[in-house]
Amino acid sequence: MHPPVFRTRITELFGIRHPILAGGLMWLSNAEYVASVVRAGGMAFLTPRSFPEPGAFARELVRCRELCDGMPFGVNLNVSRVEGHNLRLDEWLELSLRAGVRHFETVGRAPGDLIHRIHAAGGIAIHKCPLLRHALNAERAGADAITIIGVEAGGHPGNAELSCYVVAPLAARTLRVPLVIGGGIGSGEGILAALAAGAEGVVLGSRLLAAEEVWAHANYKARILAAEQESSVLTFAGTHPMGAWRVLENETAREVLRREASGARSYEEFADLVGGTKSRDYAYRDGDVERGMLSCGPAAVFSKAVEPMEAIIDSLMAEAGAAQRRLRRLALAESVDA
Ligand SMILES: Cc1cc2nc3c(=O)[nH]c(=O)nc-3n(C[C@H](O)[C@H](O)[C@H](O)COP(=O)(O)O)c2cc1C
Repeated sequence: MHPPVFRTRITELFGIRHPILAGGLMWLSNAEYVASVVRAGGMAFLTPRSFPEPGAFARELVRCRELCDGMPFGVNLNVSRVEGHNLRLDEWLELSLRAGVRHFETVGRAPGDLIHRIHAAGGIAIHKCPLLRHALNAERAGADAITIIGVEAGGHPGNAELSCYVVAPLAARTLRVPLVIGGGIGSGEGILAALAAGAEGVVLGSRLLAAEEVWAHANYKARILAAEQESSVLTFAGTHPMGAWRVLENETAREVLRREASGARSYEEFADLVGGTKSRDYAYRDGDVERGMLSCGPAAVFSKAVEPMEAIIDSLMAEAGAAQRRLRRLALAESVDA
């Protein structure tokens, strides 16, 4: 394992070696994924929504605890904007707390009640959002840290379409709690830039998709390795009521864009493409990567091989250390001393 390179309020808050969080990944954040990140010195989050019923999630919590060798791991609690999709939030939180989880990544609207209950159980919550306005609301609601996500992020980056490198310095000057940024970070240079921009950690998703421990089909990982800078597209951008969703460009994504262009707005008009378990079944399980909305951002371009998670995180930290040394060489001696 790579020795620690940075100590920040995020490494302290989460008790981790490196300032790296691996975001919740719908369908992919299982015990192997989460434990691989934890054992490599970061923090990662199970996604309860990936499991068909609470019992399956509860069993995954047990497996995760075993695979983490007693080290803490996290759970992602996503407050959906879709009515009726939050009925199990309380149960997921309760199961997580009962399993000993104390580290939570919250996402979505009004996380105040969740944060309050997490604190009552002695836990911590980092809230993920795209805008400073949301971040300030979450800080007021008690969030222990904030993640700001930029438009490059795989999954749902919010509709603001801003780079996290624009929002981060602004947020770092305004927030009292520590800041994490994410969206497009897939290199050690990107991590150093995040720290320079005022963040105390990064959240990664796309860069980790080809890790050995991710359960998805070999065809899917081959597609990730073949990704180029423009291999992802932002669907439902602008003011679309579905909410922005960055995915791999495939047949499904192209069809979504075609329907958008012809004026489709409602969920029903896209349900046959985006709903249910399609991405899990067609792409992740069966390897048909042309089907399903496959969350992914341009940071996948940095994946060059299917590797163990620890090798990925070690190389990111080695790159970050090298980038830091390069900056020191570029700096004028008097500014380094100052
Ligand atoms: C395959 C995939 C699935 C994701 N699913 C979720 C999710 O269920 N909940 C969530 O909060 N974020 C989700 N995200 C976002 C990530 O947690 C993370 O914030 C994002 O990937 C960071 O940006 P990056 O992809 O540029 O590294 C997902 C991202 C990907 C790539």
